[in-house]
Amino acid sequence: MLNNITEITDKLKHGQNLEHNEFVTLLNSNTAKLRNELAQSADHVRRLNFSNKVYIRGLIEFTNYCKNDCYYCGIRKSNSYATRYRLTKEDILSCCENGHELGFRTFVLQGGEDPYFNDDIMEDIISSIRKTYPDCAITLSIGERSYESYERLYKAGADRYLLREETANNNHYSTLHPDEMSFENRMKCLNDLKAIGYQVGCGFMVGSPYQTTDNIADDLMFIQSFRPHMVGIGPYITHQDTPFSDNNNGTLEDTLLIISILRLIEPKLLLPATTSLGTINPIGRELGIKAGANVIMPNLSPVNVRKKYMLYDNKICTGEESAECVNCTNTRMASIGYEVVTDRGDSPFI
Ligand code: 5AD
Ligand code: FES
Repeated sequence: MLNNITEITDKLKHGQNLEHNEFVTLLNSNTAKLRNELAQSADHVRRLNFSNKVYIRGLIEFTNYCKNDCYYCGIRKSNSYATRYRLTKEDILSCCENGHELGFRTFVLQGGEDPYFNDDIMEDIISSIRKTYPDCAITLSIGERSYESYERLYKAGADRYLLREETANNNHYSTLHPDEMSFENRMKCLNDLKAIGYQVGCGFMVGSPYQTTDNIADDLMFIQSFRPHMVGIGPYITHQDTPFSDNNNGTLEDTLLIISILRLIEPKLLLPATTSLGTINPIGRELGIKAGANVIMPNLSPVNVRKKYMLYDNKICTGEESAECVNCTNTRMASIGYEVVTDRGDSPFI
């Protein structure tokens, strides 16, 4: 067994693809020793590609209306306790203005799947941002849409798209989502986005309900073959007003191990230390960066809506002004020897 682990980690460190059962073995051997070893290698390859730079993305949570009913998510349509809001185009542009002054060169428009934001409206918002901030990247994170819609938004000026697969296992997918949502369509969307030319981010929650080690290995196999530009992973955190309110949270340790594995699978990956990682542990994001992550996504949403975008309980950064989050991020990164840079931070392999 020991030898087996050494062989597997050697393969990973040498950039060789792993087999499904090898990922399972690694994930089942999650000791402090293994985490430290892989974090060290991950940090080494990250420094070769990105030095000690950390890219920041300004997250604008512009609507918490959602037509979907994912069982894990706090803004699912059946959560009648959620107070719904939509930002106007002017609100969004003023977040961008504030963000640009603070040094952001990527804006991430994230929201629930809100039919109000149809293609005409999104096109108008995107092209206004594109015109006002030609030096910035625009990332969308607005769920499943048609090929034609993705194409229109790309032509309007969007550069990147985040759509987590949530799980690369069809059966697991149906335990997390109601029948109206399908794994096939999720995969179709990811393929469409790539075909159109977006820099694409996928990802999954660590420790989501009913997730097995086998399922995580499915995600890692998927990522190995899909070759996304970005991967967002963070621990699952329960939300009190969802059907999964009694489920356990994902762990810091599993998330850190997987971050290191992802960095070694793809040394040039853009890999955020997520807000959920910072929520389950006060220095979760710092530990994520040290394990191989190279992106942080501070919140740029207006303070008066932040508490309404509650995907999970106790989410951090919901009381702070954007400038406070930026200062806090800079200080946190400096404290571990990394440097937040003012840069679009495009994927090195586009
Ligand atoms: N815990 C952690 N992450 C969550 N997300 C949604 N609900 C939760 C939760 N309860 C993640 C999903 C989604 C991203 C925007 O947030 O993976 O894709
Ligand atoms: Fe938001 Fe620290 S990053 S308060």
